[in-house]
Amino acid sequence: MDELIKQAARDLSEAKMVTALTGAGISVESGIPPFRGKGGLWEKYDPMEVAHIDAFLQDPTKVWNLLFKDMKEVLDKAEPNDSHKGLAKLEELGILKTIITQNVDGLHQMAGNTDVIEFHGNMAWQKCMDCHKRYETHDIDINRIPPRCSCDGILRPEAVLFGEMIPQAALWRSRQVAQDCDVMLVIGTSAIVQPAALMPIVAKDTGAKVIEINPERTLLTDDISDYLISGTAGDVMNRIIADLEKLL
Ligand code: OAD
Repeated sequence: MDELIKQAARDLSEAKMVTALTGAGISVESGIPPFRGKGGLWEKYDPMEVAHIDAFLQDPTKVWNLLFKDMKEVLDKAEPNDSHKGLAKLEELGILKTIITQNVDGLHQMAGNTDVIEFHGNMAWQKCMDCHKRYETHDIDINRIPPRCSCDGILRPEAVLFGEMIPQAALWRSRQVAQDCDVMLVIGTSAIVQPAALMPIVAKDTGAKVIEINPERTLLTDDISDYLISGTAGDVMNRIIADLEKLL
């Protein structure tokens, strides 16, 4: 692993434009459970029953009780971990430009990154299903489920549910920064959910190096990634930054 950490530091120091794609694994060390694998949310729930737009429209109380309420409580307390801070440091050093994240937790922005594409929207804001008035999630009262707008419409997070379109601007810009980068860091994603998982393929097709950081192998590991640094995101990022600082 030491050799791969050194290699990643070298690749990052030589790159002209770096993009990162992040997934739930990057926030595990902040106490937010992933979706798949051991301890994952989809071990407990069927995503089609709790995270599909049709399930929400059919029974918003159930989806709020099973999913959104817990998510709000976990996210209200979550803080960026070493891997979020490492990506913020890479931006500060002028190495990383844009993060495409599938996460809805806002931790990259909290760590200090300024160009974050929220591919699956976010949990920071709620929108009234009737009048579209917006509320900060922090401020809504979840003693009453589902929470409601002043017009009595039901609130929903501005996160993308299964069965919904990816916001057009996020999709368009993600393709752009995937095409334009010469290194893509892919951190903590199983690369199962499309179209997010296409971004490393777009990057690879246009000549970028793809570096994966994940304790497990993924669908990208054999054919798309140049190499996998097999470890947890916080530890690996700390070691890459330490090596990178020696090179600058
Ligand atoms: P997943 O839960 O599918 O995958 C999490 C990945 O993180 C796995 O590959 C783990 O091996 C890895 N992992 C776990 N702990 C880690 C750690 N400490 N450091 C680094 N990696 C670690 O999450 P995503 O790929 O983000 O979409 O899932 C994609 C989408 O599926 C989500 O955005 C969500 C979900 O259903 C929607 O809800 C629309």
